[in-house]
Amino acid sequence: MINIETASLKDLNNLRELERICFPIDNWPLLDLIGVLTMPGIIRIKATFIDNFVGFIAGNINNRESTGWITTIAVLPEFQNRGIAQSLLAECENRMNVAKIKLTVRKSNSKAIHLYEKNGYFIQEVWKSYYIDGEDAILFQKLC
Ligand SMILES: CC(C)(COP(=O)(O)OP(=O)(O)OC[C@H]1O[C@@H](n2cnc3c(N)ncnc32)[C@H](O)[C@@H]1OP(=O)(O)O)[C@@H](O)C(=O)NCCC(=O)NCCS
Repeated sequence: MINIETASLKDLNNLRELERICFPIDNWPLLDLIGVLTMPGIIRIKATFIDNFVGFIAGNINNRESTGWITTIAVLPEFQNRGIAQSLLAECENRMNVAKIKLTVRKSNSKAIHLYEKNGYFIQEVWKSYYIDGEDAILFQKLC
């Protein structure tokens, strides 16, 4: 029932709403959302349920460092805990096809941390007061 497919600028309004719901403190500004849906080289994948947008992930590849960065991942609350983030993450990792993947997460985000650790990510560093409200970020890395 859940489809995993490439996202495009047509998904802008849905992505904006997802960001607003899932990241109440620090959702991306409109220009960043347009960028993630249009800029070349970015991997952008959505999850849909009967054509409704329910989740999103984006990945960037830094070719110089041959490192992929997961820049955002979110699933609408009513669709969480069904393995959708797991599917988005697996698809993004496959499409990035790099030796190393990194991402940051809020220290308190136990659910996302569980997802990353389950998928082979390990803590590389803690970035003190990284987020706008002063919360620390954990930098996770995975060797593929
Ligand atoms: C993090 C997020 C993307 C996960 O999406 P999801 O589709 O629910 O994830 P999945 O269903 O694939 O996996 C959920 C896992 O978390 C576990 N989980 C649920 N609540 C949890 C909690 N409070 N603490 C730890 N683990 C938890 C589930 O048991 C499941 O693990 P399992 O597969 O081992 O049973 C989603 O919660 C979300 O959008 N959160 C808001 C945005 C966000 O924080 N994004 C991450 C930014 S770094």
